[in-house]
Amino acid sequence: GSELKPSASGICTALLVLLHRNAAAASGDGGGGLRLNFYSESCPRAEQIVKEQVRRLYEEHGNTAVSWLRALFHDCTVKSCDASLLLETDAATGLVSEQASPRSFGMRNFKYVGAIKSALERECPGTVSCADLLALAARDGAAMLGGPSPIPMRTGRRDATASQYGEVERYVPNHNDTVSAVLSRFAAMGLGAEAVVALLGAHSVGRVHCSNLVARLYPAVDGGFEPAYGAYLRGRCPTADAREDTRDVAYARNDRATPMVLDNMYHKNLLKGRGLLLVDQRLASDPRTAPFVKKMAADNGYFGETFAAALVRMSENGPLTGGQGEVRKDCRFVNAK
Ligand code: HEM
Ligand SMILES: *[C@@H]1O[C@H](CO)[C@@H](O)[C@H](O)[C@H]1NC(C)=O
Repeated sequence: GSELKPSASGICTALLVLLHRNAAAASGDGGGGLRLNFYSESCPRAEQIVKEQVRRLYEEHGNTAVSWLRALFHDCTVKSCDASLLLETDAATGLVSEQASPRSFGMRNFKYVGAIKSALERECPGTVSCADLLALAARDGAAMLGGPSPIPMRTGRRDATASQYGEVERYVPNHNDTVSAVLSRFAAMGLGAEAVVALLGAHSVGRVHCSNLVARLYPAVDGGFEPAYGAYLRGRCPTADAREDTRDVAYARNDRATPMVLDNMYHKNLLKGRGLLLVDQRLASDPRTAPFVKKMAADNGYFGETFAAALVRMSENGPLTGGQGEVRKDCRFVNAK
């Protein structure tokens, strides 16, 4: 009979498990070692500092907020949200920056990461990772642009000590990829068609250079474009030979109507044949994605909720945690030994 009676220690264990579960739920432990407010003790003002800096930079250069969103995508999609994207080419170590990949073409504002990092280092040296900086900056950038807010972003990511330059083209989709290719890339991060349609809503802000457009404009305007819009884009990109290697290449804004607002104008535009990239426009016609495009075009609240959840999921792709990697002092370089 005594084995059937729960022992005092058994009850204690059960209670501890329960308490632990509740604590984990309250702190929002995602299970992957990331949690809400990871820096609550080591650097209580960390998230506030990032937000202040993102706001200050947005007020000086509005496009910085746009850049943080694209940067998080490019960092996380290539294996892990580990700030490998931020490492600069270093002849001494032979490291080649992911920023030098053709897929990173058009990325900008990396020079302002240092301002955010310095503010963090002043308050808590060597504590807040560059990977978390990117995730928080993307979250706060979205809010600056009128996107969904607040987005509960878990933290605790650690920084990579190597660039994944050689893998970038394999992991980051191209402007003219098929919907199948795009869906399978995102599925590898646990993101389904609905999440993909929401995340590409980031293309409701920012710009596209002509090198990514001319194949849809010359020799003839792609039938997927609304004719007047095709004519407008030809005006933005007057020659068929836009090249990536000229510094002052021409570009078109993703969204002429509200170019600096993160909203469902992207989805409304797709329904009118105003998607700039081939992948954008394909979302509106592929049966796996088209229903979500229509639903998001009709409901900005639904777009925002889906975008927020998908951004969090993307930001948790294969993070380094615990004792893995390091916390870089300068986001551009691996720490000195
Ligand atoms: C199939 C997936 C995607 C492809 C093929 C893609 C491709 C591109 C391309 C070609 C550009 C224009 C680059 C240029 O010419 O300057 C661009 C811009 C941009 N992308 Fe994406 N993208 C994808 C998904 C995403 C996601 C998931 C996000 C963020 C959540 C994102 C955020 C942005 C932003 C904000 C810009 C504008 C950047 C600026 O104006 O500085 N993209 N993307
Ligand atoms: C996609 O565009 C690139 C240039 O950006 C080009 O080299 C490639 O051939 C295109 N792929 C397809 C399938 O059209």
